[in-house]
Amino acid sequence: MTYKIAIIVGSLREGSINRKVARSICALRDDNLDCSMIEIGDLPLYNQDLDSNPPEQWVRFRQQVAAADGVLFCSPEYNRGIPGVLKNAIDVGSRPYGQSVFDKKPAAIVTASPGSIGGFGANHQIRQTGVFLNMPMMQQPEAYLGHVTDDSFDSDGKLKEGPLKELVKVLAHAFHDWVDMIHRSRAALAEDAAHAAQQAAKAKEHA
Ligand SMILES: Cc1cc2nc3c(=O)[nH]c(=O)nc-3n(C[C@H](O)[C@H](O)[C@H](O)COP(=O)(O)O)c2cc1C
Repeated sequence: MTYKIAIIVGSLREGSINRKVARSICALRDDNLDCSMIEIGDLPLYNQDLDSNPPEQWVRFRQQVAAADGVLFCSPEYNRGIPGVLKNAIDVGSRPYGQSVFDKKPAAIVTASPGSIGGFGANHQIRQTGVFLNMPMMQQPEAYLGHVTDDSFDSDGKLKEGPLKELVKVLAHAFHDWVDMIHRSRAALAEDAAHAAQQAAKAKEHA
């Protein structure tokens, strides 16, 4: 099965290493992951007063995420936490209350940094919001990608051969399988429920 994946990158930087890692994940599974980068740099800051008349950029962002089967967050860590631009996008997508476009979407989090702890702090802050947003979050492999620099990529922005590319390959496969498992399980449960309802209706007819 091919799944539509919304990629949300927590960096606006042109040469972002996180954007390049995101592209690499898609390229490694382009047979089964149909990825779109969702831009977040133009989103006006979330303001609850605007919920009744939302800016067009919020509407566009919400539609793009809603259309996806899964979400991949690829983000740097800023000051041991989640970059403000990403938190703003998450807040925009989560509202109005009860209409979050993230609800029930399977997701994964990847953080990459030139530093040695690979954005662990940001990774877990995103994970924390994912709990409230009711996003089934891939648990393993964890992806705190440390020592990632421009030198990790070739001139086309693709990951060079080596342990990082191998890890990203494993990640890309695990993410596809995670999204697949969630969607198949939901379909099977819906089928079971429909079958049970049919049986109950038949039993009532013959009662
Ligand atoms: C405001 C700011 C805060 C940063 N804080 C951290 C940090 O807490 N941990 C870390 O590993 N790197 C930190 N960095 C360095 C980033 O990891 C590095 O700039 C990285 O390349 C940013 O990701 P990007 O290439 O995807 O834009 C920080 C960078 C900036 C600009």
